[in-house]
Amino acid sequence: MTSPTDRSLAFTPLTIGPLTLRNRFIKSATNEGAARGGVPSKQLVRFHERIAAGGVGMTTVAYCAVSPDGRTFVDQIGLHEGNVVHLKALTEAVHRQGAAASAQITHGGCFTWVKDLSCGRPLSSSGGFNKVGLLSGQWWRQAMDATQMTQVIGEFVQGARLARDAGFDAVEIHMGHGYLLSQFLSPLYNHRRDAYGGSPERRARYPAEVLGRVLDAVGKELAVVCKLSVTDGARGGNTAADGARIAKVLEAAGAHLLVLSAGLNVESITTMFGSSFPKENRVKMSNPLINAAMFLQRLTEPQDVSFREMYLLESARHVRAATRMPLAYIGGVKTLANVNQAMQEGFEAVALGRALIHGADLVEAFGSGRTQASECTSCNRCVSMMYTPGGTSCVLGQAGSAELNAQGAAS
Ligand SMILES: Cc1cc2nc3c(=O)[nH]c(=O)nc-3n(C[C@H](O)[C@H](O)[C@H](O)COP(=O)(O)O)c2cc1C
Ligand code: SF4
Repeated sequence: MTSPTDRSLAFTPLTIGPLTLRNRFIKSATNEGAARGGVPSKQLVRFHERIAAGGVGMTTVAYCAVSPDGRTFVDQIGLHEGNVVHLKALTEAVHRQGAAASAQITHGGCFTWVKDLSCGRPLSSSGGFNKVGLLSGQWWRQAMDATQMTQVIGEFVQGARLARDAGFDAVEIHMGHGYLLSQFLSPLYNHRRDAYGGSPERRARYPAEVLGRVLDAVGKELAVVCKLSVTDGARGGNTAADGARIAKVLEAAGAHLLVLSAGLNVESITTMFGSSFPKENRVKMSNPLINAAMFLQRLTEPQDVSFREMYLLESARHVRAATRMPLAYIGGVKTLANVNQAMQEGFEAVALGRALIHGADLVEAFGSGRTQASECTSCNRCVSMMYTPGGTSCVLGQAGSAELNAQGAAS
């Protein structure tokens, strides 16, 4: 744990597993909308190169699917041999700017819009009605059996090896936000009566097994990070006390760093972002499914949650108190004072999403004293920009290039 007195700690190196970062600022995974047909694009490279040049210790490439059935969308980066050359172009660009690159490795489970799944019904911890199916048409999810669980572990291992071969310095196993491993962690999804269901420790067993196998495969060469939702933010879901118990399991399994998010895509996206998605902030999408999803979200999510800086601090503190391992605070970090508070409270790193979408050079600006605060308004409009031709960008700045987004990174 960090010393509570060192105010400039954020600009000092941090070692996580075999990796040393130049500082403690991490760009969190924010689906870049820059992999048409699953191929990483030149726009994706430009996005991360700018973030790296802006001074972060590590940038995280969002949402790389470990298998075709693990995709949430067809335009999601696929971790397969054919993409290594494109991902290499990205990691080389990030390294040229002195930062490290992390690949967020994901299986969506039943949170998927992909129609032609080889597994039939979407996979999850338990069977039953699939809420996303209201829009995707896949109404029912299936409980994974032992063979499927072993297969998916193999896919995570393969994905991590591929990330290593593509030059990544870290992998971030996505265990949060309602994707497959989160569907094991959350009692809202996991109703299993075997050794993988029940208490928080038992629900964490399968994610910990995935982590263990990924560590065995690449943990000596890459940092292995886990992102989890400490609280689900929905009735009957994990509380911060549950999240702390889950974090202890991941600590015991050897994770090098935890990123302490919250909320679930379907049930509680407001918890994840700390503020509502007001109607006027929604851009009109050409994809009718996305429009419908946003409409439903407006009906089910609270419309009056005002953003506050460091909105996940209370839940993150539970994990800090329960563990001794490196932790990254995430959620509403916008000012240098926020960063220093996270350091003083004993978090080893801070992860930032929107503030770095707004200004890729924020870390350099903090370090040089050029600014004390991001001017991101927390309007959440960048979230719907993911589906625009230029990919994810801040609506207050320049849009991404649709032209670069249509070209494979190495083409
Ligand atoms: C445009 C956008 C896309 C996002 N996509 C992802 C994602 O692919 N994976 C993920 O773990 N989190 C995703 N997030 C959540 C962020 O990583 C982060 O947890 C959240 O924005 C809170 O951090 P912040 O207050 O610093 O923005 C996304 C956020 C934004 C704004
Ligand atoms: S669109 Fe820009 S100002 Fe609004 S939340 Fe996203 S980064 Fe911040």
